[in-house]
Amino acid sequence: MYRSHTNGELRLVNVDQEITLSGWVQRVRDKGFMIWVDLRDRNGITQLIFDEERSSKTLMEQAKTLGREFVIQIKGNVIERTSKNPNIPTGEIEILVSELIILNKSITPPFTIEDETDGGDELRMKYRYLDIRRNPVRENLIFRSKVTMAVRNYLSKEGFIDVETPYLIKSTPEGARDFVVPSRMNEGQFYALPQSPQTFKQLLMVGGMDKYFQIVKCFRDEDLRADRQPEFTQIDCEMAFVEQEDILNAFEGLTRHLLKEIKGVEIGKFPRMTYDEAMKTYGNDKPDIRFDMKFGELNDLAQNKGFGVFDSQELVVGIAVPGCANYSRKQTDKLIEFVKKPQVGAKGLIWAKYNEDGTFKSSVDKFFSQQDLAAWAERLNAKKGDLMLIMAGESDKTRTQLSVLRMEMAETLGLRKPNEFAPLWVIDFPLLEWDEETGRYHAMHHPFTSPKPEDISLLDSDPGKVRANAYDMVLNGNEIGGGSIRIFDKKMQSRMFDLLGFTKEDAQNQFGFLMNAFEYGAPPHGGIAFGLDRLVAIMGGQETIRDFIAFPKNNSGRDVMIDAPSNIDKVQLEELNLKLDLKDLK
Ligand code: AMO
Repeated sequence: MYRSHTNGELRLVNVDQEITLSGWVQRVRDKGFMIWVDLRDRNGITQLIFDEERSSKTLMEQAKTLGREFVIQIKGNVIERTSKNPNIPTGEIEILVSELIILNKSITPPFTIEDETDGGDELRMKYRYLDIRRNPVRENLIFRSKVTMAVRNYLSKEGFIDVETPYLIKSTPEGARDFVVPSRMNEGQFYALPQSPQTFKQLLMVGGMDKYFQIVKCFRDEDLRADRQPEFTQIDCEMAFVEQEDILNAFEGLTRHLLKEIKGVEIGKFPRMTYDEAMKTYGNDKPDIRFDMKFGELNDLAQNKGFGVFDSQELVVGIAVPGCANYSRKQTDKLIEFVKKPQVGAKGLIWAKYNEDGTFKSSVDKFFSQQDLAAWAERLNAKKGDLMLIMAGESDKTRTQLSVLRMEMAETLGLRKPNEFAPLWVIDFPLLEWDEETGRYHAMHHPFTSPKPEDISLLDSDPGKVRANAYDMVLNGNEIGGGSIRIFDKKMQSRMFDLLGFTKEDAQNQFGFLMNAFEYGAPPHGGIAFGLDRLVAIMGGQETIRDFIAFPKNNSGRDVMIDAPSNIDKVQLEELNLKLDLKDLK
């Protein structure tokens, strides 16, 4: 038996017991006549003591050979500590060791296995198994497991059936590139790894499964960011005989349950906002509503007053930043620099201070009177002491730029509080979006999303105006889930492929299986998928999903630990028969 207890378990009540522990050596303090060892496992740390007076000479000598990260097993007696450590749960006791077995030695680890480590990102990724020994990483993984379990239990109780769908499939268009896998048995042909199980879950509805869920890996070959990994996990769900309202209620229920069960946070009914409203009010389809700073449009108040920069533009729009009227020139200049950065791309920024004494001071005092600025303040909901920040330009671009500035100000002011949770449904997304590059429409969500029945008449005349029965769940400014009510009628699905520029032949080749299925009694259905990694990270008070994934990829999509992707054997390549002639391809 390697252990009778874990290293987080023993307390004063265990004093005088003979116990066996195993674990890793976190630290050795050798005073010559006395040696203390911190023994660590997943559950905690227990202090071991070797002492000249009470331990044998061989045991003392053996203890002196211990180094960091050695794996050991000990037998000993639980004793009360003379100087107690209130910071750890086992801090009142220690173990007087009577027997020590070194199970495995360790060479010196490349970084310290402490909460605050000296290891950089790449090094920690290369030795991820050592990184996982550190408290913060281990706790994130345990936290993830807790969330996953709670999701499974909840959905299962609600009657959802967990069904696995295949990973070797055919391309599904969800907006990213596919990872492809060559087929040895079908020369020159490829599988694609699923970007999501979208078509399969719809086929499960045709198959009568009624309520499906799966915690499933998805693969997307897209540029990586803090909230994106090439392989990530979805909580994927689908329901038959439902309308949008049923889905929103079901998954609001899940999210509310998770926040309560895991974080102890009770949240009432989630607010809802249309896509148009979100874009107009926050310049963003995933607004962080933990704080205010709503957009106010100033065209009628700020144009035609002789200030050319405003007059010539489509939109003049601003926000009121709370409590920043005391910003120095240096600080306002820094904001101007910020918006001019290529990542933001604005030409400039106008500021106006609403001073505590009720007066105004702005960067455009030459053109605007105190009354003008007071009218701006009213529109932007500015209070005394606030700083108004105004941008002008082409509508969509300017809104996006102001949205970046809004988030930056919130970050600076500490308004993005990690332990406050503000969920939101964004609904009524446009069905299609125009892509300048290809000169045609793309499905904003995916091609299986149904148009709102009242907008179907616009499909031919003004497709860009058609709204979809599509929704996103947003949590603290992050899109954590998205879904839609689906098309379940062959004719409508075929019409959608036409709109998206598919030829009849292509549509049939790629999605014939789905359209055929629709001819055999497909029920009305809809669903949603949550990004599990994002959900877990945000619930854990962070936004970088990498820290909640056991073995993530770096920003170039590499696993630096196993060194993948990598070359493969000539033999493997030959077996795959990858003799592709690009001329034969379309
Ligand atoms: P969508 O593409 O919106 O919908 O994806 C659902 C959710 O998955 C998460 N997500 C990601 N997380 C980490 N890394 C990525 N690269 C990544 N891409 C997406 C997001 C997102 O909200 N089949 C549809 C769902 C449906 O219609 O039911 C789909 O996949 O949190």
